[in-house]
Amino acid sequence: MDNIKESLRNVAVFGQGFVGLPLSLSFAMRGCNVYGVDVVENLVKDINKGITHHKEAFEGRTIQEILKEQLEEKRYRATTDGVLALKECNNIVVTVGIPIINGQHDLTDLVECTRLIGKNLKREDLVVIRSTVIPGTTEEILLPILEEESGMKAGIDFYLAYSSERIAEGKAFEEFAYMPTVVAGVNEESAKRAKELLEIVCKTDVLIASSIKVVETAKVFENVQRDVNIAMVQEFARFTEALGINIFEVIKVANTHKRVNLLVPGPGVGGYCIPNAYHYLEPKAKELGVNLDILKLSREKNAKLPEIMVNIMEKLLRGAGKTIEGAKIGVLGIAMKDYSNDDRISPPIEIIKILRKKGAKVLAYDPAVVTEYPFKVNSLEEAIKDAEGIMVLAKQKEFEDIKIDDIIGSLQKGAVIFDTKNLFEGFKDVLRDAGIIYKTI
Ligand SMILES: NC(=O)c1ccc[n+]([C@@H]2O[C@H](COP(=O)([O-])OP(=O)(O)OC[C@H]3O[C@@H](n4cnc5c(N)ncnc54)[C@H](O)[C@@H]3O)[C@@H](O)[C@H]2O)c1
Repeated sequence: MDNIKESLRNVAVFGQGFVGLPLSLSFAMRGCNVYGVDVVENLVKDINKGITHHKEAFEGRTIQEILKEQLEEKRYRATTDGVLALKECNNIVVTVGIPIINGQHDLTDLVECTRLIGKNLKREDLVVIRSTVIPGTTEEILLPILEEESGMKAGIDFYLAYSSERIAEGKAFEEFAYMPTVVAGVNEESAKRAKELLEIVCKTDVLIASSIKVVETAKVFENVQRDVNIAMVQEFARFTEALGINIFEVIKVANTHKRVNLLVPGPGVGGYCIPNAYHYLEPKAKELGVNLDILKLSREKNAKLPEIMVNIMEKLLRGAGKTIEGAKIGVLGIAMKDYSNDDRISPPIEIIKILRKKGAKVLAYDPAVVTEYPFKVNSLEEAIKDAEGIMVLAKQKEFEDIKIDDIIGSLQKGAVIFDTKNLFEGFKDVLRDAGIIYKTI
């Protein structure tokens, strides 16, 4: 902890979201002095009070415990004052994202953040971009802004590098430390300096690639291949359904092959990373005149999954002599993936919107998600009481203790359960004996 080079000790991390906060704390835990910069005042206030809703942990301690410790040790503080952070720090890490709105990317946040950094850049500063970007962004858009605003030359007066962020939410601390990290710089010295900085947190390989575009592109490919894999297993799920066998078992069997890695189908593809990935490739592909038909189709198919899930539910209800209009449906899980508090681009939310549009009365329970919704309730009992149907859309730890008798006792006679997460698969016979129609994905 104490053998950190003096030039690497002060770190400013721009963006204090799902990536930026745990990354800042990772640097602080290793002895750096870290400013976590964000533009959202309430977020900064909460963080400085030790409040975060992220479900991260490291070596047996929760992110809340780590945050409190680092605030007390004064190695970390959040701020909206980017200028102050840039004055105090010569290592600058950017984790500000590029949102996709209706298929179009919006660079405003990233550009504004880069402009501020450029305006306040000092000689010898190191800037490392860790946001996921459209290949080419760092050198074609961000570098000119930094040079123009600072009046300095990248690679000579200051150092500029790109390092892809590969963590999965929920495993952030561990993956910052033990996932191989890739970096490239505008020149060799930039890459070398960025590698030294990243090695404070990354305890496994920090690999230097030949160019920034290679790292930017590899990151987007990593995410797109998951999107395509999921589109494929969704088709597999429709096939196994027609064949009358369980998709999760088939995937488990197929994955015993050492060179096969099928992902599991769910109610959709959510979060900030995978649904956005295709839209980061598309603009560059258009510019280059490259066809991405398979990737495009996979994205379109995955975007339609919430609608398909509702159609399946509607069919199940019909089979039970019920209509979706007016049906009381309890939803378990509204996070974009299992064991997460993240409800950005969340398929369960999309599904609920469609259900409501079709006239269903939806009550949803997810103990991890803090966002308020008109359909959200605070207990499982409220969600499922007298329900005619249940949809399980995301798993949370609390759901593992659910007693199947409580479910059976709460539901209306002849209710249906569409379990996209295989949560109650072990009880399928009990459910069927109780007259409940039970279906996995
Ligand atoms: N969430 C993940 O698991 C994950 C994994 C790998 C890569 N990424 C990538 O990392 C980046 C960040 O993702 P995230 O999930 O942390 O997003 P996030 O939305 O949780 O965090 C981004 C933060 O940046 C802040 N911000 C916006 N403009 C700013 C500015 N000008 N200055 C300072 N802060 C500003 C926002 O207020 C927000 O809090 C994205 O590019 C994403 O694609 C995310």
